[in-house]
Amino acid sequence: MMAVRLKRLSLRQGLIFILCIPTICIFLLGIRQQWPEKMKWSGGPKCIGWKATFACIPLGPREPSSDKTCAAEVREGAGYCLCEDNITVARVSCGAHRFRCQEKCAQLAVDPSVAQVLPKPLTCGPYDGYNMARLVPAWAAYRAEHWVEARGERQRRVLSGDDRAAAAAADDDGGAIVDSTVSSSSSSQSSNPSNNRTRISTTSTTSPMYHRGSGATWPWGELGSDADTLSKISSLIWDIVDKVMGRNGLGDARIPDNRIDKNDWVREGRRMRTRDVEKLKASVAGLLRDLPPYPNAAATAAAAAAAGTAAGATDARNADGSSSISGSTSTSSRSSSPPAAPGFSGRGVVMVGGGLHYLTPAWTNLHVLRRTGCRLPVELWFPVDEFPTPAVEEALLGLGVMSRRLAARDLAQRGFGVKVAALLLSSFQEVLFLDSDNALLRDPTYLFESEAYVSTGALLWPDYWDRTAAPEVARILNISASLLPAGSFESGQMVIDKARHWRGIVLAAYMNVYGAVFSELLSCYIGKGDKETFAYGMLAAGETMWVSPVKPGSVGLVTVVCSPRGRGSKCREQFLGNTMVQYGTDGLPLFFHANYHKWDLALPDSFDKGWNRRWQVLQPNRRSVAEVIYGGSEAGGAGYDVERFVYDTLRAFRCASWFDSYHADRLRMNETPAASLDGFHPLPDYITFRDFYRYGWTGNFEDLAHPPFSLGDRLVSWYYGKPRWWFRRLNRNLCRLRKRVLPRWLRC
Ligand SMILES: *[C@@H]1O[C@H](CO)[C@@H](O)[C@H](O)[C@H]1NC(C)=O
Ligand SMILES: *[C@@H]1O[C@H](CO)[C@@H](O)[C@H](O)[C@H]1NC(C)=O
Ligand SMILES: *[C@@H]1O[C@H](CO)[C@@H](O)[C@H](O)[C@H]1NC(C)=O
Repeated sequence: MMAVRLKRLSLRQGLIFILCIPTICIFLLGIRQQWPEKMKWSGGPKCIGWKATFACIPLGPREPSSDKTCAAEVREGAGYCLCEDNITVARVSCGAHRFRCQEKCAQLAVDPSVAQVLPKPLTCGPYDGYNMARLVPAWAAYRAEHWVEARGERQRRVLSGDDRAAAAAADDDGGAIVDSTVSSSSSSQSSNPSNNRTRISTTSTTSPMYHRGSGATWPWGELGSDADTLSKISSLIWDIVDKVMGRNGLGDARIPDNRIDKNDWVREGRRMRTRDVEKLKASVAGLLRDLPPYPNAAATAAAAAAAGTAAGATDARNADGSSSISGSTSTSSRSSSPPAAPGFSGRGVVMVGGGLHYLTPAWTNLHVLRRTGCRLPVELWFPVDEFPTPAVEEALLGLGVMSRRLAARDLAQRGFGVKVAALLLSSFQEVLFLDSDNALLRDPTYLFESEAYVSTGALLWPDYWDRTAAPEVARILNISASLLPAGSFESGQMVIDKARHWRGIVLAAYMNVYGAVFSELLSCYIGKGDKETFAYGMLAAGETMWVSPVKPGSVGLVTVVCSPRGRGSKCREQFLGNTMVQYGTDGLPLFFHANYHKWDLALPDSFDKGWNRRWQVLQPNRRSVAEVIYGGSEAGGAGYDVERFVYDTLRAFRCASWFDSYHADRLRMNETPAASLDGFHPLPDYITFRDFYRYGWTGNFEDLAHPPFSLGDRLVSWYYGKPRWWFRRLNRNLCRLRKRVLPRWLRC
C-alpha cells in the first residue's frame, strides 16, 4: 500500500517532503533547545546591577563602592538587584547571601510577583503645595478665630487712638505697630485725629494678618510684643550679662587637659590644682554675688531711676512705659517717670532654627506640636545669617511661630551658644525649650500645670549616661558633694521659669561662655556643650528642679546582622536606636527626640513605597511603636501615625511654592546643600548602646540594647571602664619617674 502511495508522488512533491522533514526536525529541535533558555531569560527585565546600601537597610543610603555587576555573586551586605525599568528584586538586609542579580532579574519572567518597583523620588504635583489648614486643621481653625479677635482688638485700639506711643512708633517706623499691653483709655482724647487715619491705613496696607519682619506682632494678641520691646529686652539682658561676666572672668585658671576618649584626666583619677579650683570657685561666687535680680519691669525701672544711665539707652517714645510686656500695670508711668524696662512675660515654646539642616526638622516638629493641640506661642531663633526668606517666615507665623534673629556678634564675641542665648533672650518668662529635632507626642502645656513644675519651676530630663562631671565641680560650685547628681542631663527639652531660675540660667550661660573650661569639667568626650550646664547652674544657685525619674527610652528598628560575615555565619537581630524617648511628668512617653540623624528632604514619592520607617520599635521591652504610640489605645500615645504625618509635613515643605527660592537663598549663603534633596529617606546613623557599653560607659541603657549584653560585653566593659584607666595612670607615673632617673633618650 505504502509503495503505491509513494509511487504517486511527483518528484517535486518528493523534494519538498525530503526538505521539510529535516526543517521541521531542526525547528522542533531548536524549540527544545531554546526551552530552558527561554524559561531563564526571555521576558525578564534586563539586569542593571547590584546596588549596595548600608545600615543593613535594603533601601537605605547607597554605598556605591560596594556595588557589583550582574554576573558577580552577591555574598553579603544589604542592598537590592536593580533590573531594567526601575524594577528591583532581592532586596536584602545584611547577612550572608549567595545569588547573582542576573539570575534574580531573569527569574522575574517566571515569577513576576517578586518584582518591586524602586520608589520614585519625590515629584511635586500641582496639588502638593503647602497648605497649613490641610496639615493642622484644628490649629488653622483656632488661628482664624483668634486672628479675627486680635485684629478686632487692634482696630478698636487704633480707632480710639488711645495709644500715643503706638501712634508715634507707627509714625517713626513707617507702619510698625506697637501692640501695647498697657493702654489706658483715659488718654484717648489727646490723640491727633490725623494720626488715627494714618494708623488705619497702615494697618490695612501691611500684611493682612500680622506685621511681618522685625515688627511682627502675634496674630492672636497673646504676646503683644513688638520689635522695639524685644530689642530692648535683648540689650537689657546683654548689659547685665556683659557686666557681670566681664567682671568675673576666669583669669589664668586652667584645667589639666581636654578630655578625649583615650585621655581623660577625670577617669584616670587625676585632680585639678587647688589654686585653679579656688580661682574658678571665686569666679562663680563673684558672678552670683554681682548678678542683679530678675529683671521685672518694676525692679528695673527702679534700678534705672537710681542709676540714671539706662534711661539714655531707651528712647523717648517708650517713655510712657506702654510697651512693657511684663504684664505689670504701670499705667501711671507717663513721660515724667523713669522708663519701665522690659521684662519677660507669659509662657511659650523656644526653639532654635538655622539653615536647611535645622529648619527642616524644626518645621516638621512645629507642625507636630500644633497637631497635639498646643496653642502656646513659639519663638524660633536663627543666627542672623541663617534667617529664612520672608515667605518662610510668613509660613511660620501662620503656625504661631515668631522668627527671631540672633546677631552674629552676640554669639561670636560673647561666646554664647545659640541655645542658651535663645533661652535667655526669649520674651517669655516661662519657657518650654525644645531642640529642633524633638517631636511631641502630646500637648505639652500640662507640664506648666504639673505639680513638679509648680513646686520647682524647672523640669529637666536625664541623658542615658551616668555623671561625667569631675569631682572638683562640687567645690567650684560651692555645693556639697552629696548634691552632685548621679546621672547626666540632656537639654533637648527643658521647662524653666526664668523668674525662679534667673540666677541658675545666667550661671549656665556663664559656663557656656567659658565652655572651654566648664564643658571639660562637666562632660567627657561625648556631648560636650550646654547640656549639663543648666542643671549645674541651678544647683550652684541653690535652686530646686525636677529631674524625670523615668530613664530615657529609645526608638529605632530591629535589623538582622550576621557575623562573622560569610557563608557559614550566624545571624542575630540587633536593635538600632535613632531617637531618644523622654517621659512627661505623668511618666508617659512625651518626647521623641530624633537626635541620631535629623529629618531631611530626601523623600520617596510615596510614604507607602520606599520610605524606611525609623520609628518601629520602642525600647525597653521591644514594644511596637505602631501599637503603643500610634494605636491610641494606650495612655500617653499620640493616637495617630506620627511618622506618616512627618512625611506629609516634609513633603509639604519640599513642595511649597516658596521652597525653591528658599533653597536657592541657602545655597547663595554658601550653605552645604542637604545630603540630597531627592532620593529615599536615608538613615545613616544609629546607636546600638552596645558599643558605648563595651567602651566602658555606664548608664541607664542596659534595657535598651537588644540582644541583651552578654558576659563578653560585660568583661570588655569592665576592662574599658576601670583597668584601662589605671594602666594609663600607672604609665603616666612611670613616665614621670623615668624622666627623673633616666637619661633623656630612655624617657617616654
Ligand atoms: C527610573 O528612576 C529614575 C530615577 O530614579 C527616573 O529618572 C526614571 O525615569 C525611571 N525610569 C523609569 C522607566 O521609570
Ligand atoms: C478717628 O477715629 C474715630 C473713631 O474712633 C472716628 O470717629 C474719627 O472720624 C477718626 N478720625 C479721622 C480723622 O479719621
Ligand atoms: C559657699 O556656701 C556657703 C553656704 O552653703 C556660704 O556660706 C559661703 O559663703 C559660700 N562660699 C562662697 C565663696 O560663696
